[in-house]
Amino acid sequence: MSDESQNHNISGIDESLASDESILKTHTRIRREPFFVASPVLFTTAIALTVIFIFGWFYQRRYMGEQNPQMYLHERSDIALYNNWLERPRGPIVYDYYAIGESLYTKMACVGCHQANGEGLPGQFPPLAGSEYVTIEDSTLTTKVLLAGLVGPVTVKGNEYNGNMAAYGGGLKDHEIAGVVTYIRKSWGNESSEVTKDDVAAVRGAIGDRAPWSAEELGSYFQ
Ligand code: HEC
Repeated sequence: MSDESQNHNISGIDESLASDESILKTHTRIRREPFFVASPVLFTTAIALTVIFIFGWFYQRRYMGEQNPQMYLHERSDIALYNNWLERPRGPIVYDYYAIGESLYTKMACVGCHQANGEGLPGQFPPLAGSEYVTIEDSTLTTKVLLAGLVGPVTVKGNEYNGNMAAYGGGLKDHEIAGVVTYIRKSWGNESSEVTKDDVAAVRGAIGDRAPWSAEELGSYFQ
């Protein structure tokens, strides 16, 4: 063994004595040593971090508040504006039912059948202008037709129709149905009452999810 090779010995291991077998044995022994048991410091640290993390999570959920946006406002005038905004009057939402209905009349394609002037098409689609279903004082009739639809023979302004009017209750919300009903009750010379979303909710609740009406079922409105 030369002096030079001895200089390369690591911590007193004599490399010249190492056989393939002894190297394999050593590696196998090292691999078998359980990681955590071998390093109790790592094990303790991992447990401690887990505990801290879980504690922190609960602590944060329990004690953290919202950030106050005022901390970003440096000018007194900004703070005053912000406070005014916080105290702004917040009344109930005001619906412009007529305007809602006016746009839905086109969007929901009512206009394709009942026409822009509300006159319908002779023999096919009944008129809404002057229709007894639309101008009737008790608006629940008009609402019922819009919510659940109408099918079969019906007489409107003295003319017979026998078609199928789809239900809109599934597709439109209460304030939208109220809009459409209000719009047709107040257009083309019709001057009947407005209908609100609460009116619609009441009718919806009363009739539930149901099949389209027949004119006969609604006959009691005209007695
Ligand atoms: C595909 C064509 C079609 C569309 C779209 C349509 N309707 Fe109708 N509507 C009819 C038909 C047909 C009847 C008659 C049903 C029957 O014969 O029983 C009717 C009946 C009515 C009635 C009761 C009868 C009357 O003339 O007053 C009202 C009210 C009404 N529709 C409003 C509407 C509104 C509002 C919309 C849009 C949300 C609409 N319809 C969309 C075809 C249509």
